[in-house]
Amino acid sequence: MKVPFLDLKIQYKEIEQEVVPMVIDVMANGAFVGGPQVSGFETEFAKFCNSNYCVGVNSGTDALRFALIAIGVGPGDEVITVPNTFIATTEAISQVGAKPVFVDIDPDTCNMDPNKLNDYLKFRNPQSAIRNPQSAIRNRIRAIIPVHLYGQPADMDPILEIAQKSGIAVIEDACQAHGASYKNRKAGSMGDVGCFSFYPGKNLGAFGEGGAIITQNETIAQKIRMIRDHGQRKKYFHDLEGYNGRLDAIQAGVLRIKLKRLVDWNKSRRENAAYYNELLSEISSVTLLTEAEFAYSVYHLYVILVDERDGLQKYLGDKGIATGLHYPLPLHLQKAYAHLDHSKGDFPVTEQIAQHLLSLPMFPELSKQQIEYVVAAIKTFVEK
Ligand SMILES: Cc1ncc(COP(=O)(O)O)c(C=O)c1O
Repeated sequence: MKVPFLDLKIQYKEIEQEVVPMVIDVMANGAFVGGPQVSGFETEFAKFCNSNYCVGVNSGTDALRFALIAIGVGPGDEVITVPNTFIATTEAISQVGAKPVFVDIDPDTCNMDPNKLNDYLKFRNPQSAIRNPQSAIRNRIRAIIPVHLYGQPADMDPILEIAQKSGIAVIEDACQAHGASYKNRKAGSMGDVGCFSFYPGKNLGAFGEGGAIITQNETIAQKIRMIRDHGQRKKYFHDLEGYNGRLDAIQAGVLRIKLKRLVDWNKSRRENAAYYNELLSEISSVTLLTEAEFAYSVYHLYVILVDERDGLQKYLGDKGIATGLHYPLPLHLQKAYAHLDHSKGDFPVTEQIAQHLLSLPMFPELSKQQIEYVVAAIKTFVEK
């Protein structure tokens, strides 16, 4: 048996009958960038996320970058995030001229640990900077980016409370969490801005690049609308310098077709995760991540922790089972961030987990037999 990591061909077959006429319609009408497909998607996705506004952009990275620009983050500022995330989170921070600052994660969920955030901000409290000019540097922290990694929301209430007390904005990186919720609030809808990626393999994936921001704040939405389109409010009248960061019509059309099925696809992912959990809980050397009681995870990835991770990954590969590592080297130890002067031991939870994590095949159409085959192979390996 072969078990792919994800299988986008099955999903395409399900929606082909709707996609083909939509693409023909876009081509016949000649509205390739922007237009009714994009505005239709923005309205529908905002509603889906219980948000007032959605602005479609070119990618999740653009969404994060534009969100930071819109809330005024720039050179000399600092933005707090986690070291266990895809580099796009920190690229966005660096690319607006700010500095990424890390706090460690909770080992049970692999998301930002609010206690570590609190400890860090106590040490660098903006209020104390006002009282003590010596620590004026502390005023530089402008935003927090919690990442809802693997499809599970971070513990948002304490993060929002800490941010509010410190006068810092919150930008949610919901690029892996379409449709996830935290205490019945949709991922992306709780902070100042929520950012999504529609890269093809995501729970809601386009047929190319795509992204969006959601927000409850009209001013932020308007600013991002301008930033994505060369800073123009009206054609050829530029209030500011922006980017070419628009969403195209075919991608928006695909996303509208898929959005109607997202709730069901997420349910299937959850059923698959529950079946993995049930079978894997019998293997004592496998540690499962926790779905926190506040979370409705949409299992973008199904991640386990194992001791002999590299050996297991190779063994599964030989058995026709594709797996992934999200992420094998924490960001603070990447060559790209050598200038941040971190060293091993700075974020021990992330570092420890990076050596043991393994992402197993996960997609809505994964069959019970495929899950049983994966778990049987893991069992054989660990019992050897
Ligand atoms: C956590 C996270 N943030 C940001 C991004 C960036 O999204 P994109 O690839 O659409 O630019 C991704 C996508 O891989 C992601 O997983």
